[in-house]
Amino acid sequence: MSDTILTVVGLSKKFTLHILDKKTLPGCSKVSFTMKAGEFMGIAGPSGAGKSTIIKCIYRTYLPSSGNVWYRTKDGREIDLVTANEREILTLRSSEISYVSQFLKVLPRVSATDILAEELRERGWQSDAARERAYELLRMMNIDTKLWDAFPSTFSGGEQQRVNLARALITEPRLLLLDEPTASLDNETKKVVIRSLLALKKQGTTIIGIFHDLESMRSLVDKVFTMQAGQCKSIKRMREVV
Ligand SMILES: Nc1ncnc2c1ncn2[C@@H]1O[C@H](COP(=O)(O)OP(=O)(O)OP(=O)(O)O)[C@@H](O)[C@H]1O
Ligand SMILES: [Mg+2]
Repeated sequence: MSDTILTVVGLSKKFTLHILDKKTLPGCSKVSFTMKAGEFMGIAGPSGAGKSTIIKCIYRTYLPSSGNVWYRTKDGREIDLVTANEREILTLRSSEISYVSQFLKVLPRVSATDILAEELRERGWQSDAARERAYELLRMMNIDTKLWDAFPSTFSGGEQQRVNLARALITEPRLLLLDEPTASLDNETKKVVIRSLLALKKQGTTIIGIFHDLESMRSLVDKVFTMQAGQCKSIKRMREVV
């Protein structure tokens, strides 16, 4: 069986601004790449280049304007995420594909432990086991035990970012999409996140991550996809990037 898990072909997303006389903005244009199972690709490029647009199209937060995103499922089916129906997308999101937004989304008045445990219970975990697994994830992300029963809406940006990451790991995804996972972190915390991502990579998770700094990418990624004005500027192996 092929070890390719994702094949993106000619992916384009145009945004039509209805308030501006239907002016269109190219989010991303004719983007193509493939990912092998277990590979880690970094996406780089200036602000507004279309980096988030690509991963939102893969997660189907945005419906692409054209192109295909072929994803090979755990049970070996090839699904085009561009044309898959909503139900298929929701099933994949709850079992195989996770996404961590560039922006922090946390529910008010739900503790960090409950955010994670609740999702596990929804997936059929018993209460005690769900709490134990939630603690394990919080520990993995190096969240201070004092914060476990507190509300993440009161957490610092970096702490919230780590809860978001922990949440994305609940499903033990096969494909993980990360929008600037290390952006708001200090150096120590960055190292914690990088260590967890390395551990995931070792387990065989396929990861696409947007990064602003080369240093974070250096120890993690196999190849770097550089964007410019909505298009692919280059795809290079990490060792070719200086
Ligand atoms: N929902 C949207 N509606 C209209 N335009 C959008 C939308 N999302 C993205 N765009 C436009 O598409 C272009 C690419 O945006 P995108 O968010 O992908 O950039 P980015 O490379 O992730 O930038 P940053 O590094 O600042 O996060 C921008 O010009 C942006 O204004
Ligand atoms: Mg972005």
